[in-house]
Amino acid sequence: MNERDSEAVAAQLVAKGYAMTPDEQHADVILLNTCSVRDAAEQKALNKMETLIGQTRKRNSTAVLGFMGCMAQSRGQELIDQLPDVDLVLGTQKFHRAGEHLNSLLTGQRNKVVDTSEEAGSEATIREHLLNGASAGKAVTAFVSIMQGCNQFCTFCIVPYTRGRERSRSIKDIVGECHELANGGVKEITLLGQIVNSYGRREIGVKDGKSAFVQLIEAVHEVEGLERIRFTSPHPKGYGDDLVEAYACLPKLVGNAHLPVQSGSDRMLKLMHRGYTRARFLELVSKLRAVQPEMGIGTDIIVGFPGETEEDFEQTVSLCREVKFDNAFLFKYSQRRDTPAVAMPDQIPETIIQERHARLLEEVDAIRGRKLREYIGAQIEVLVEGPSHRNAARLEGRTRCNKIVVFEGGERLAGQVINVKITDATRSTLYGDPAIMNLN
Ligand code: 5AD
Ligand code: SF4
Repeated sequence: MNERDSEAVAAQLVAKGYAMTPDEQHADVILLNTCSVRDAAEQKALNKMETLIGQTRKRNSTAVLGFMGCMAQSRGQELIDQLPDVDLVLGTQKFHRAGEHLNSLLTGQRNKVVDTSEEAGSEATIREHLLNGASAGKAVTAFVSIMQGCNQFCTFCIVPYTRGRERSRSIKDIVGECHELANGGVKEITLLGQIVNSYGRREIGVKDGKSAFVQLIEAVHEVEGLERIRFTSPHPKGYGDDLVEAYACLPKLVGNAHLPVQSGSDRMLKLMHRGYTRARFLELVSKLRAVQPEMGIGTDIIVGFPGETEEDFEQTVSLCREVKFDNAFLFKYSQRRDTPAVAMPDQIPETIIQERHARLLEEVDAIRGRKLREYIGAQIEVLVEGPSHRNAARLEGRTRCNKIVVFEGGERLAGQVINVKITDATRSTLYGDPAIMNLN
C-alpha cells in the first residue's frame, strides 16, 4: 500500500516538472512515507529522518524534508515539535496535495505545513503511475488502489485510526486505470486495499448474488492485455462463496490468497475482534483448496497478543501445521496508542514474545521449505518480471500461486509468460531453467 502511495506522489511531482533522483544526497525534496502498524516501523522512520536532517541540512539549508502516510496522520504537529527541521507533514487523505504544499514551501509562502484533515473523495486520487519510472525498464506488474480505510477495528490495530473509515472508488474509475496500465504494457494487476473484500459494500452493494468486490474483479477481468489479477488483503470474515467461486470462473484470477489469520486460538480471535473462529478459517481454506488444489495460501500472524497463554500459542502452531501456509508473515505484538488492546490485562513480556516468535518462525519456514522442494522437477508457468533482485544477471518472475522463481535468460523475456522447469529450491525461492516458451 505504501509503495503504491509513494509511486502516486512521485508521479504527481514528475508531472509537475520535478525529476526523480536515485540518490538522496542530491535531492531538494525528501518525503518519507511512513507505517504505524508496529512501533519498530515508526522508530525506523524517525531515525531515518534524523540521519537525513544531519546530512541534508549541511549541503542544502532550503531542502524540504517531510513525513507522509500513517505516522504523519497519527502524530501530525508532534513530529515538527520533536524534529523542528521537518517542513511538511502530509496525512493519508492528502497525498494528492503534495505538489501544492511543496510549491508553497519552496517559494517561501509558507514555512511549515501540517495537513492531516479528512478529505471527501481522496480515495480516488491514488491513480497516477510511473510506468517507466526511475528504476527504468517497463513495468510488468502494477498495484491499483481500490479503496481506503477499514471499519473492522481489530483491537490491536491502528489502521482504522490512521486510514479512516472505508471509502471505495467506482468500478468505472478503477477499470479505466487498469486499461491505461494494460495499454502501457502491464500484464499483472494487484488490487489493493486494507480490507479489499469490503470493497463497495455501502457504495455499490450486492447484485445478482455477487458482492461489489466480485463485480469489480469481473469488470477488471474484461480488460484486454491483462494476464493476471491478484488482490491483497482480504479479511477471512468477508470471504464469501461468490469470491471462492470466482477462482473457478475467472482464469486471470491467479490461485493465490493472502488470508491473515492472526491466531489459531478462538479465545485470542475473540479478544482481537476478528469476527471468525478457527473452524470458520479452516473451512475457508478447504473451500479454496477444493476449487484449486494448488492454491497458494499466505497469512499474517501476531505472536504475544495480551493474554496469550502457552496453550493459545500452541493452537497457532497447530493451525500452521494443519494449513501448511505457503507464506506466513509473523509479527511480534506491538502496543499501538489508542487501541483497545493496550489497556488489556496480561501484556506478554518481550522475552516470551521473542521466544514464541522464534519457535513459530522455525516451524513456518520449515513448512514453506518442504512445500517449495515438492516443486523440484515440475514445469510451472511464470510471469517474467525482470532482473532478479538478488542477482541482476538472472531473471525473476512469479508463479500464479505467488512463488518467486529465479532463472537464466535475456531481459527481452520481461513481461512474457513462460514455462520454467524447477531444478532447485531454498526456503524462500525456486530456481529453474526456462522450458518451452508460451504465447507472445
Ligand atoms: N502488533 C503487531 N502486528 C500487528 N499487525 C497489525 N497491528 C499489529 C500490532 N499492533 C499485523 C497484522 C496485520 C499486519 C499487516 O500487521 O498481522 O495483518
Ligand atoms: Fe487492521 Fe486489517 Fe483489522 Fe482492519 S481488518 S483493523 S486493517 S488488522
